[in-house]
Amino acid sequence: MKRVGIAGATGLVGETLLRLLESSEYEIEDLRLFASQKSAGIMVSFRDQEYEVKELAVDGFQGLEIAFFCLENELAQKFVPAVAKLCPVIDKSSQFRLKDDVPLVVPEVNPGALSGHKNIIANPNCTTIPLVVALNPLHQEFGLKEVFLASYQSVSGAGRAALEQLYYESEFFVLHRQPDTGESPFPVQIVDNVIPQIGAVDESGFSAEEKKTILETKKILGLAELAVNSTCVRVPVTVGHCLAVTCRFEKAVDLAGVRRVLQKAPGVVLKPDREPLTPVVCRQRNEVFVSRVRAGATANDLNLWIVADNLYKGAATNALQIAGLLLKNSEGL
Ligand SMILES: NC(=O)c1ccc[n+]([C@@H]2O[C@H](COP(=O)([O-])OP(=O)(O)OC[C@H]3O[C@@H](n4cnc5c(N)ncnc54)[C@H](OP(=O)(O)O)[C@@H]3O)[C@@H](O)[C@H]2O)c1
Repeated sequence: MKRVGIAGATGLVGETLLRLLESSEYEIEDLRLFASQKSAGIMVSFRDQEYEVKELAVDGFQGLEIAFFCLENELAQKFVPAVAKLCPVIDKSSQFRLKDDVPLVVPEVNPGALSGHKNIIANPNCTTIPLVVALNPLHQEFGLKEVFLASYQSVSGAGRAALEQLYYESEFFVLHRQPDTGESPFPVQIVDNVIPQIGAVDESGFSAEEKKTILETKKILGLAELAVNSTCVRVPVTVGHCLAVTCRFEKAVDLAGVRRVLQKAPGVVLKPDREPLTPVVCRQRNEVFVSRVRAGATANDLNLWIVADNLYKGAATNALQIAGLLLKNSEGL
C-alpha cells in the first residue's frame, strides 16, 4: 500500500488509522489527508514528515491505490460513490453497509465477501465487529440460533465532539455543579449517567444502533434467520465498548469446548474469568477480549463478556485489515 487517502483524517477514527498506518510495514509514498474546510491547512506529522490537511474533494483521490472514508453518513453518501470510480473505498459510515452489492467485512469472519466488490467496501459498526469475531468460531462449532446482546458503549464511539462533551461535563461534576449540556451531542447529560438510547429511536421502539447490531450481525455471519436481540447503552467511559452476550446454540455447549474454541479463534484473546475485564484492558489493542465464560439457563445457552477498543478493532484496525486483504487479493490476480 503506497498511495493512500484518508477522508476524515482529523477525526477520532481517521487519527487512529493514521497512527496504525504509521506503525505498519507499508511504505507510504503518497499520503493525502482530507477533512472539512475548517481543518484545511493544518499540518499533521507522519513518519518524520509533515502533511497538509486539504478540504475534501473528489479530485484529490486521483491516482490513489486505496481510500479510507471516516466521515458521517451524509458526507459518505455524497463522496464515496464518486471516489469509488477512482479507487477502492473502505467506508466507516453505516451508509452502504446493508446494500446487497457492498461487502460488509470482518477479515477474521467473512474475508470471502470481498470477492467481486465494486470498489465500495463497508466496515461494520464498532459493536458488531467484536460480537461477530467472538461468535463466529462458536457458531462453526455449535450452530448459533439466537443472540441476546446488551452493549455498554463508550462515548468515543460517537466521535470527537462526544468525547469532548464527557471531559467538559466532568469538570462540572468534580465541582458538584449541574453540567452544561447546551451543545451536547447526547440527549441528556453523559457524566455520571447511563443513556439507554444510541441514535434515533424509530416507531418500532428500536434505536439506530440496535438495528445496526442486529442487521449487520446477520449479514456478516450469513445467517438471515438468526434471531438477534439487542439493547445498546451509552456509558460515561472514554474508549472501549463492552458487550454482555447470551447465545443460544443448536447443540448443547460444554464450557471446556467453548474455551478451546475461543483460545484458537483468530483475533480473540480469552482472559481469565476472575480477572475483571474492563475497557482499560482493551485500549489501543487490535484484538477482541473475552471472559466470564459461563453456562446459560439451558444446556444450549452460553454467557460471555466481550470487550474491544471501538477505535481500533471496532474501526481503524478492521479497515486496515480489509485493505491488507484487498492488496493480497489484487496481487493474486
Ligand atoms: N468513533 C468510533 O468508534 C467509530 C467506530 C465505528 C464507526 N465510526 C464511524 O466512523 C465515522 C467517523 O467517526 P469519528 O468518530 O472519527 O468522527 P469524528 O471524530 O467526529 O470525526 C469526523 C471527521 O469528519 C470530518 N468532517 C466533518 N465535516 C466535514 C465536511 N463537511 N467535509 C469533510 N470532512 C468533514 C471532520 O473534519 P474536521 O475535523 O475538519 O471537522 C473529522 O475529520 C462515522 O461515520 C462514525 O459513525 C466511528
